[in-house]
Amino acid sequence: MSIASLKPTGDIAALLTRVPAISPTTRISDVGELFLNDTYARLLSLPVVDKGVPVGSISRYQMINIFLMRFGREIYGAKPVSQVMNAQPLLVPIEQPLDAAAQHVARNIGTPITEDFIITENGRYLGVGIVLDLLRAMEQRVAASTASLAEAYGQLKASQAQLVQSEKMASLGQMVAGVAHEINTPLGYLRNNVEMMQGVFGQLREVLADHDRLLDLMAAESPDEDAIHQQLVKASSASAELRDSGTLDDTEALFKDTLFGADQIKELVVNLRNFSRLDQAKVAEVNLNESLDQTLVIARNVLKNKVEILRRYGEIPPVACSPSQINQVLLNLITNAAQAIEHNEGRLLLKTESDDSHVHVSVQDNGRGIPQEHLQKIFDPFFTTKPVGQGTGLGLSICYQIVQAHGGKLRVASIPGKGSRFVVSLPLATAQAAAA
Ligand SMILES: Nc1ncnc2c1ncn2[C@@H]1O[C@H](COP(=O)(O)OP(=O)(O)OP(=O)(O)O)[C@@H](O)[C@H]1O
Ligand SMILES: [Mg+2]
Repeated sequence: MSIASLKPTGDIAALLTRVPAISPTTRISDVGELFLNDTYARLLSLPVVDKGVPVGSISRYQMINIFLMRFGREIYGAKPVSQVMNAQPLLVPIEQPLDAAAQHVARNIGTPITEDFIITENGRYLGVGIVLDLLRAMEQRVAASTASLAEAYGQLKASQAQLVQSEKMASLGQMVAGVAHEINTPLGYLRNNVEMMQGVFGQLREVLADHDRLLDLMAAESPDEDAIHQQLVKASSASAELRDSGTLDDTEALFKDTLFGADQIKELVVNLRNFSRLDQAKVAEVNLNESLDQTLVIARNVLKNKVEILRRYGEIPPVACSPSQINQVLLNLITNAAQAIEHNEGRLLLKTESDDSHVHVSVQDNGRGIPQEHLQKIFDPFFTTKPVGQGTGLGLSICYQIVQAHGGKLRVASIPGKGSRFVVSLPLATAQAAAA
């Protein structure tokens, strides 16, 4: 049963037990007989109605008390029920919603529960509602809302997983843009260097050709001394020029540069692979100092020249975590820090330390800081102060989830105008749950 199938009104009708009411003048001894009648078998109390209007209720319990009294039957038997009935019975209008009726009954019913309630329409008697039926109806409703809550929870979890995925894709996109940019720079000068080396190679070829020509002249059957002399001057001056102009030293430097550029690209690619760890997304023993370094390479593009990076790495033990997820956390924090710095003296302090139980990574910036009233909200999904299209507001909420899934803590301290500090604390004990 779903909630929607329970109409907001009209549920009381389902609880209606249509039984004949008794009149206030009914003799008490007759009431005792009526209770034995099948019609009233399920009822805790009988409705007392006068000219269609409910005026009271008489319970089995009350009757038993009377009959148990010494000479009870003799004293009361012939008297009208109106003398002993509860003159303020519980009334529930038929159009009342189930919840309201249940609240009204719960608030006004006595303990022990000895009476049922009377159902009315426009103040007139319709029938009796059995308290136990009301309880059952409520129980069903709770079960139904629990089921739909569980369903809503399931849907929420699924869409949350989707959000995590899209944030991953977004940070992947950001990362790819950054890495492309990082690869482009060394690639640019690599190409320049090769072009320059091509020029030098041409010069070298010419020198070589001059020397070859000299050798040919010298090896001739009848050597022409003048020609040999001229060629000797030409060849040696070309060699001297190449040597003295420093071209060879320059070229050697170019080679070094080129190899450096190639290594840089290689480092980026290695980092990129480590960063995403697509090959091993599960839990691994990770040194967070290395994670920070890997992330910095990836984040180089957002940090650019405007931010000075200070690394105060402590000697920390490895922690069991999902490296790609933790890198995602660090990238989000570092990106936020870079985005919060609007001046030219940006500083990003990255600190790591450990105690008996945790490794702590602190990412601290001297950016604009976070106003007190925002501190409560920054971990909420979709909370962002960035212009539309620039921030999804998911970064920190995902960081929070990831850290929590690792059994860790993510804390923030900030002074508006001075800067913010985010601390990720991960437990030393293995965080197997993270892989889930
Ligand atoms: N280091 C920081 N300094 C100042 N404000 C911050 C910092 N980190 C987060 N915030 C504030 O918290 C908000 C939420 O951050 P969060 O990373 O969740 O989303 P976002 O950065 O706005 O968007 P997204 O990360 O999806 O691009 C930010 O919009 C910003 O106002
Ligand atoms: Mg962010």
